[in-house]
Amino acid sequence: MRKVLTVLGTLISISVAQADEVNIYSARQENLIKPILDIYSQETGTTINLVTGGADELIQRLSLEGDNSPADLLLTVDVGRLHRAKDAGVLQPVSSSLLESEIPAQYRDSEGYWYAMSLRSRVIVYDKERVDPSQISSYADLADPMWRNSVCVRSSSNIYNQSLVASMVGHNGVAQTEEWVKGLVANFARSPQGGDRDQISAIEAGQCKLALVNTYYLGGLLTSTNADERETGEAVAVLWPDQEGNGAHINISGAAVTKASKNKEAAVALMEYLVSDEAQAWYAETNNEYPVRTDVPVSDVLESWGEFKADDIALDQLGIHNAEAVRLMDRAGWK
Ligand SMILES: [Fe+2]
Repeated sequence: MRKVLTVLGTLISISVAQADEVNIYSARQENLIKPILDIYSQETGTTINLVTGGADELIQRLSLEGDNSPADLLLTVDVGRLHRAKDAGVLQPVSSSLLESEIPAQYRDSEGYWYAMSLRSRVIVYDKERVDPSQISSYADLADPMWRNSVCVRSSSNIYNQSLVASMVGHNGVAQTEEWVKGLVANFARSPQGGDRDQISAIEAGQCKLALVNTYYLGGLLTSTNADERETGEAVAVLWPDQEGNGAHINISGAAVTKASKNKEAAVALMEYLVSDEAQAWYAETNNEYPVRTDVPVSDVLESWGEFKADDIALDQLGIHNAEAVRLMDRAGWK
């Protein structure tokens, strides 16, 4: 195709060449995304340039670069960040009948600015030896005085915690959510520190009985090639919160076309590939995430945790309530 067009004139050949390139700013670790991009490049001939960095850093870079940004696609985790990028004016809406039919409505922006590629839940994990799971069933229960000095969780500066609290603001309002956070903070076994894996290690070490973590961190421990890490993972079990209520909190990894994109069609085509059977299965398995498409099977370790009721709050609510969530966590003393 390209050869034929090239003989028609330089102008056309340039536009075809451009359409065969996608420049990605990715906040996902390179080893979690590059192999599937390489397969896409091989299958389609599309050149993919990947720049990896911190999510907030990449969003800021897009802002500074403005229309001159070379980026076409932003890949990042947590809808709070995708919302931030949308608010910062660095994204553009796209519509694709394929993305709209494959991705459930609550997992994409209502105006088409971002689309989820995979899902994760923020769940309660408990010490298998010291906790009777019949004693706890909800996020609200984490604030029960029976769990004094029992809960480990990372800092409130972390977007995953902010998004969880924002979802509660969306469901219950600020006042009720603030009461819950105060009770949660009163139950902390230690000052917030480390990442989600560290909270699981702290349970194994006997420092706490309960923790809030994203599912893929536990999946990563349980499928690790390192025996010590597998042992850490084996110390805990998953408790799906709020199964009688709103359901377990869901967040996403997602993709969005940048406002400055010069290769919009190629960027959308790549997003469409990322929701194909092949990419969804690979992406979900490699990252221990849930596919965004409900008809793609989950990995063995995720399957072992069983089915669960997911909170179906519209994910843009997590971005909309982020600032209120951050302020109330601060007032409640969540460091
Ligand atoms: Fe993470």
